[in-house]
Amino acid sequence: MCSVAGYIGKNYSKSFILEGLRRLEYRGYDSAGFACLSPSDGRLLYAKTQGRLICLEERLNQFPIDGFLGVGHTRWSTHGSSARLDNAHPHFDCEKTIAIVHNGIVENHHELKKQLIEYGHVFHSQTDTEVIAHLFETMLATHVTFKGAVISLVARLEGAYAFVCIVQQYPDQMLLVRRHSPLCIGIGDDEMFVASDPIAFADKTKKIVFMPDESIVIAHKDVLEMYDFSGASSAIVPQTVEYDWRTDGKKDYEHYMLKEIFDQRTAICATVGFLRSNMDHIWDQLSIWADSITQLQCIHLVGCGTSWHAARMAQFFFETICKIPTRVHLASEFRCMPFFAEKNAIFIAMSQSGETADTLAALRIVNESGGMPTIGLTNVDSSTLMREAGGFLLTQAGREIAVASTKAFSTQLTVLYWLAHFIALQKGMISDGQLEQAEEELRTCAQVLENAVEEYKFEIIHTHAPHYAQYERAIFLGRHISYPFALEAALKLKEVAYIFSQCYPAGEIKHGPLALIDKNTPVFVFSHQDELIYRKLLSNAQEVKARDGRLAVFAFEGQQELICLADVSFVVPRVKPLLGQLAMTGLMQFFVYAIAKELGRPIDYPRNLAKALTVE
Ligand code: G6P
Repeated sequence: MCSVAGYIGKNYSKSFILEGLRRLEYRGYDSAGFACLSPSDGRLLYAKTQGRLICLEERLNQFPIDGFLGVGHTRWSTHGSSARLDNAHPHFDCEKTIAIVHNGIVENHHELKKQLIEYGHVFHSQTDTEVIAHLFETMLATHVTFKGAVISLVARLEGAYAFVCIVQQYPDQMLLVRRHSPLCIGIGDDEMFVASDPIAFADKTKKIVFMPDESIVIAHKDVLEMYDFSGASSAIVPQTVEYDWRTDGKKDYEHYMLKEIFDQRTAICATVGFLRSNMDHIWDQLSIWADSITQLQCIHLVGCGTSWHAARMAQFFFETICKIPTRVHLASEFRCMPFFAEKNAIFIAMSQSGETADTLAALRIVNESGGMPTIGLTNVDSSTLMREAGGFLLTQAGREIAVASTKAFSTQLTVLYWLAHFIALQKGMISDGQLEQAEEELRTCAQVLENAVEEYKFEIIHTHAPHYAQYERAIFLGRHISYPFALEAALKLKEVAYIFSQCYPAGEIKHGPLALIDKNTPVFVFSHQDELIYRKLLSNAQEVKARDGRLAVFAFEGQQELICLADVSFVVPRVKPLLGQLAMTGLMQFFVYAIAKELGRPIDYPRNLAKALTVE
């Protein structure tokens, strides 16, 4: 799992590759590498460094190399420790004349490596990728043509992979292979750009080839040859697409995460505006997919990480507002479970990046069954999810850079709250005026979200963050929609502060977690506006206090009993009950952000994580 980039053409490759990789660093940042063919003597040159791309850039400034044919890589480690430089890409054959950068996992690498070692190949890394280089070396030695060697190579590789390869003996071509993992090519004027995501070359060309699954491309600077895995030629169909790759930077904020927390009011309002102005399009999509929207019997939502939490919260929107039973699936589990296509049901795959491999795998299962319409809900219009789902819904969060998702989460909730009302409207359950009212509720909620952060930020930074940064673990509790919200809060604290956090439905603590309550384990309770649920949460909070637990609550105005019970409380104004958690989203995120800052964590790029996980 990683990002790959490649270039062949009339210009030097390094500047494109480094800039392209910078835009793709969301896919991993454990190490980075670059290889090219020397323009003077045709030798393969390379540089690789551990850590973020900036380290590679510094190295290349110190020891410059460049060439007209080059490949680059940023890594999110799967096979082989990230602490070993040998495991950084590119990887090479024995003679160091073949350089490969790879995204994915070669699942049969173990047996291939064993055989290759028996044949005398010497390996330098613990990665699956190095196997490809050595195997290709053997294939090139035993095949008359380059193409023949490639066909035999891919026949031996199992798993998901996208790789780019340059070979010293073939200075006028670059090899690209795609199986499941994405790979695309930008066609320039006497130059070809290659990357895992088209934003890498969005400013260079709008003429893009998204490589089909199980395809091979031999790229020359002015022509592409494409084959399927059997060696049959395939037609190349470039698309003309314009993608916006720019970001507005961190502005005056210290971290992207902080900026993105404060982007949320605007992002939610922009998303509402976008939905309103694209109603016809959404209606077309829904009515094409479901036989008739009024017949819709079930909504399936699938996602990973924060997107999964948003899906779990949205279940309450659909079941309450438009009264449609909703099932939420964890994408990584979905493919291990039996799948039953249903009539009158839709399947919504949710992913901020639109590149998460587990979510795409789930989508493909449903697409291949042919039995259910699919919709991708994503923030990235250039993503694989957009291309592979039957239809799409786009959030308008703008690029989210920090690994921990903030504004993508709140805009996913926005879309799904709106969609639940939109379906209710189509079913005749509410009027157009009520849909407009729901839009107004979202805008109000966005303002409350921002005001709450403004109100508490000073207190959080100076008082609460230094205090809570001292704990090694924490417990999070919620009920109803505040339970998946508490799950999200616990995930955030793990991701950016590295504090072990356990989340439970509040009613379940008596079945075990109460044994963990002590003075060293703060308990965070996320309240609910519904009086009945609030009362039950209050009882659970009292159970914690009765055991001398340290209680911090995120409550709503007027919930005095809970507020008085707590050691620390954050209180937000009341909004529409189902939007209560959206209103406290910014506060929760800011609280976690401040703890992580207090602990000196690398907030935007936490250790071991990546923004998009393109391996299953
Ligand atoms: C990674 C990120 C999480 C994110 C998850 C799903 O694990 O670190 O922050 O929630 O992927 O990402 P997606 O792009 O599919 O929403």
